[in-house]
Formats: sequence, structure tokens, C-alpha cells
Amino acid sequence: NDGALWGARFAGGPSPELAELSRSTHFDWILAPYDIAGSHAHATALEAAGYLEADEARVMHEGLDALASKIADGTLQPAPGDEDVHGALEKALIAEVGAEVGGRLRAGRSRNDQIATLVRMYLIDHARVIARDLLRVIDALVAQSEAHAEAILPGRTHLQHAQPVLLAHHLQAHAWPLVRELERLVDWRRRAGVSPYGGGALAGSTLGLDPALVASELGLDRPAENSLDGTSARDVVAEFAFIAAMTGIDLSRLSEEIILWNTREFGFVTLDDSYSTGSSIMPQKKNPDIAELARGKSGRLIGNLSGLLATLKGLPLAYNRDLQEDKEPVFDSVQTLEVVLPAFAGMIATMRFDTARMAELAPQGFSLATDVAEWLVKRRVPFRDAHEISGALVRACEEAGIGLEDATDELLVSVSPHLVPEVRDVLSIEGSVASRTGVGGTAPVRVAEQRAELVARAQAA
Ligand code: ARG
Repeated sequence: NDGALWGARFAGGPSPELAELSRSTHFDWILAPYDIAGSHAHATALEAAGYLEADEARVMHEGLDALASKIADGTLQPAPGDEDVHGALEKALIAEVGAEVGGRLRAGRSRNDQIATLVRMYLIDHARVIARDLLRVIDALVAQSEAHAEAILPGRTHLQHAQPVLLAHHLQAHAWPLVRELERLVDWRRRAGVSPYGGGALAGSTLGLDPALVASELGLDRPAENSLDGTSARDVVAEFAFIAAMTGIDLSRLSEEIILWNTREFGFVTLDDSYSTGSSIMPQKKNPDIAELARGKSGRLIGNLSGLLATLKGLPLAYNRDLQEDKEPVFDSVQTLEVVLPAFAGMIATMRFDTARMAELAPQGFSLATDVAEWLVKRRVPFRDAHEISGALVRACEEAGIGLEDATDELLVSVSPHLVPEVRDVLSIEGSVASRTGVGGTAPVRVAEQRAELVARAQAA
């Protein structure tokens, strides 16, 4: 068990089957730079507490720097016999600076407090990348909204024509959840900035090392209040996995619409060639694969969250080896979003809308029937009756095979004496949209205000 972190109390080394099961270097090596940063900080705390002479500390830091560059250029790799990143790097440090200095580093720390800290550092770094990528998707939605500030979209509920809305209103409705994901990341960061380093295996340290010093060296806000909690809680990891999953779901809902809009039957959007794929057999095909992959990968993000939650359920305090299973799902969520978001932003930014087609379809399906009812209400008809009158008009027009806007004066008055010819004022799509001036409504003036607010919220996050 050469160079391993444990062994003296065992008669022999681990069985090959155990070693195979136990090994995590194939996924935790990604934490190597954070492990080195943790070791630098820990060495500083050891020196401050008098466990390293100044020259020993210097040798230690130089050795860690040497390892960091070998990690960066790929010349340092875990050996097949290394159990995890922590063991591999201690072994490498001892090879670099000798056991007399290298062998002092492990005092007062455990892989349990190390790993709990490193995973937070990794997630905090990647949360920044993901926030930047999210902002690009939001920017693309905002830019499309600005470019189509007055274009009309047939708004739907139950996927049926409901009421006309501004395309910008609809696109912004997809941007708001992403703004909230940004805000969730900011809020998550407050809880993530806690450093379990110094908690040891579970009970804390006897050596008088300063955990606040370690935390600040690592760019974290403060040490964990409880060493048991610090080493064994993973709610911060699960919360991150939730934000990732929810982001995937947000993108998936928009994806579903883009996929529909991109069909010949809808014909609302055309995707740019560089953000579409072809078919290996059907030469004419142009497929919305980015939207489909985003929709598909949201399933994987949900799986990562639920797998992690299942791992955590029923774990007694404190550290249990089960916790090693926290990393692959959340690393996968990070890597998934980091490839999905940039492609998605590009697809949105380059998508072309057929606004004439959308405007043509907007009045269909009697989508102005609510406007007729509300027009009647403004003329003092009780809404209950107004709803009935407008419904009867829809039925009469449906029977006549015409739209509401084509109803003759005779037809109108035959449905109800309240339906005088002036009702036609509200039987235009533009008029309908412009009249929805209530807070959060689809009137162009409200949508423009809303857009400014959206941009401000996204930038503040
Ligand atoms: N590699 C482990 C993890 O990812 C840390 C090692 C702790 N091992 C132990 N036997 N306490 O959680």
C-alpha cells in the first residue's frame, strides 16, 4: 500500500476489488487545483500555529506550486494505485519535497474536511461561469424582444389559441425564470461560502489551527460553525444541483416551443444554419437539435439531483463514504450546463421570426372573444352576461364559418342588442394588445417597461 494515506494498522494492502471500488481519481482529479489551494492555506495555518518553521513552510509552498504547474500541464496524473485526489497529491508532494517536510502537511486535517471544502470551492467557481452563460441567454432573449418590440404572437393556454400577446412579452416570460436562477445562485453563494476545513474527520482539531485564516486564504467567508455538520452536510451541493435542474427545466420549456415553432405547421421561426443539424439520410432536413438536446439533458439534470438526494437520505452523522457519491452527479450538472447554455444562447440570438405568419394566425380561434366581453363590461353589462353574449357571438360566427372581425352589423345585433357596431374598435389584434395596460400586461408600453426592469434585475444579480 505504497504511499497510501493509511495502512499501519492493517496486516496487508487492500484487495484489488476493494481498490477498484474505492478509487475516485477518475472523477475527483478535477479538484486537484482546489486541493493544492487547500494545502497552501493549511500550510499557512500550520506555520502560524508553529508547526512549520518558516523555511519548512517555504519548501512546502514551493513544492505545492511545482505540483500545481504539473497538474496544469498534465504531467502529474494519478497513479492506478491512488485512492483519491488527496492521497495522490500528498504522495506527489512527498516525492517533490521529501517526507520530512511533506509528511507534516496532514496534521490537523482529514480528507473529510478537505473534500467538503473543495467541492464548495469548485461549485463557487463554476457558479460564476454558469451565471455568465445564463446572462448570455437572457441577453439574447432581450435582444430578440427589442428587435420585435411590436410583433404579435398567438398566445396560448392548453396549447390552444387564447389571446394575442406581444412576441416580446412571451420571450421575456422565458427570460424571467432565468433571472430568478441567477438570483438563486447569488443567494446560494451566501450559504456555499462556508469552510469546513479544520473540522478534521468529524470532531475538530487539537492543534489550535486557525480555521478563519484557512477560510479567508481560500476566498471563503467563514469557517463552519459545527465540525460534524461541516464535514457531512451536502445540502449546499444538493441546492446547487436543484438550481442546475431548474435551469434545465426552464430551457426545456422554451426548447419545446422552439421545436414546435420550427415545424412547417407553425412556421414561426427559422433557425440559423450554424445552429441546426442535418439528417444522414434525408437531404432536405434541418433539425432543431440544440433545443432537443437542451430538453433531453434537462432529464439528466433532474436525475443528478434526485440521485444525490437519494444518496443523502438516511445517512447518519457524520462522514460516511456514501458521500463520495455526491461529486459525479453535480460535476455532470456543471459540465452539462456549461455546454448547453452557450449553444442555446447562440441559437436564440440567431433565430429569425416570421412575424407576418404569427400576426396572421393571431386572430384565429376567436382569440378576441375576451376583448368583446370586456368591452361590454365597460358599457356596464355585468361580466356574467357579457361572457354569455361573447360566447354566443363566437358560436354564431363559428356556424357562419367566419371570424369575429367579419361579423356583420345584423349578425352582431341578432346575438345581442348590446353588440352595436362600435364593438369593432376592439376587434383588432393591435387594439387588443395595446389595451392590456394593466401591470404585467402585454401592452407595448408595459412590455418595454418590463424589459428595462428585467435587464436591471439580471445585471444586479
Ligand atoms: N474521496 C472521499 C470523498 O470524496 C474522501 C475520502 C474520505 N475517506 C474516508 N475514508 N473518510 O468523499
